[in-house]
Amino acid sequence: MCMLDLFKPYRIGELEIRNRFMRSATTSAYSDEMGVIKPEIIKIYANLAKGGIGLIIKGHLFITDSGKAHNGMAGISHEYHVPKLRELTDAVHANNGIIFAQLNHGGINASLGERKGPSEYITNNISARKMSVPEIWEVIEEFGNAAQRCMDANFDGIQIHAAHGYLLSSFLSSLVNQREDEWNGDLRSRMKIIEEVYDEVRGKIGYQIPLSIKLNCDDFSPTGFTIDDACKVSEFIALRGIDLIEISGGGIGSIADLRTRSKHHDPEYKELPFAGHCEKIRTVTKPKTLALVNGFKSLKTMQKVIDYGLCDIISLSRPLIKEPDLIERLKNGQKEARCIRCDACRSLFGKEILRCLIDAPT
Ligand SMILES: Cc1cc2nc3c(=O)[nH]c(=O)nc-3n(C[C@H](O)[C@H](O)[C@H](O)COP(=O)(O)O)c2cc1C
Repeated sequence: MCMLDLFKPYRIGELEIRNRFMRSATTSAYSDEMGVIKPEIIKIYANLAKGGIGLIIKGHLFITDSGKAHNGMAGISHEYHVPKLRELTDAVHANNGIIFAQLNHGGINASLGERKGPSEYITNNISARKMSVPEIWEVIEEFGNAAQRCMDANFDGIQIHAAHGYLLSSFLSSLVNQREDEWNGDLRSRMKIIEEVYDEVRGKIGYQIPLSIKLNCDDFSPTGFTIDDACKVSEFIALRGIDLIEISGGGIGSIADLRTRSKHHDPEYKELPFAGHCEKIRTVTKPKTLALVNGFKSLKTMQKVIDYGLCDIISLSRPLIKEPDLIERLKNGQKEARCIRCDACRSLFGKEILRCLIDAPT
């Protein structure tokens, strides 16, 4: 089997990235109350670009104020968000980086705005109301308007966030989506919102600008979105014209025991909870560019995943919080990322600028 060079340029459609590594969207959760980013955030992105990563996905941006998911989340719901985001993209471009914006609506997980979703959803932690049909169309339009503003802010591409239990992912889930209209019934109806958002965003940005989607491979809930559903949605969106699919996992109703569903049996993939899922999705999405996120640590595993064609791009989040220059380090002989995935970085959300809290040598 031939070894592909992970550090050589790779093409996503017309766009060339300098290697096969991507920074998965990672919110710094440090924007001001209006969702305008602060200078510390720009510095994080400049450093990532300096560190040699091929493609950066900016942490999620709320497309409308009521879709804000947490304190410190940045927005793209108003013109006033654009100038600082343009400074951020300028800083990335000045360091030869490429950056996409990730568009999101918190939906039933909107911890600050009003919680709403496909259906009423009430648990001990969440109380969300059902969206009306005009509200659904309004959100679709807001995705498009936000994409337009991202173009004004000089982003190189867009990623639609349809994972992790936020609004779009909740429409895909038969556990959460209990509507009795054209937005539910079968999977095809549950994915109508993805189709409409895709078309709306494409309508604004055209086909020259790369468009990506982040999708769950499984919600890991007993009755929600499964790997079979993920294969169908991925195939659909690939045929529709998406340029890059990023595979993640976990959503509403997630149960730890179910995370082994479809797990890959090859021990060399043991650090990757979604490797088995990704292999299945690959068969229906080829030749579209596929990225896999979650768990990557060793260069050996990264190399194997690419050589076996499980995916085309290695996507990383937490490892780049600890080592923003990880790609340069791997290129220069470091064998693995030093992040230990303790998730302590998440405790800073909305309070301090995102950083690694573990005092290990870097
Ligand atoms: C601090 C932090 C912020 C995150 N923010 C986002 C985000 O804005 N959008 C998103 O899709 N995922 C977000 N994620 C999830 C990551 O993109 C990624 O899917 C997850 O951390 C697993 O990848 P890893 O093992 O390489 O860290 C975040 C994760 C962390 C730790």
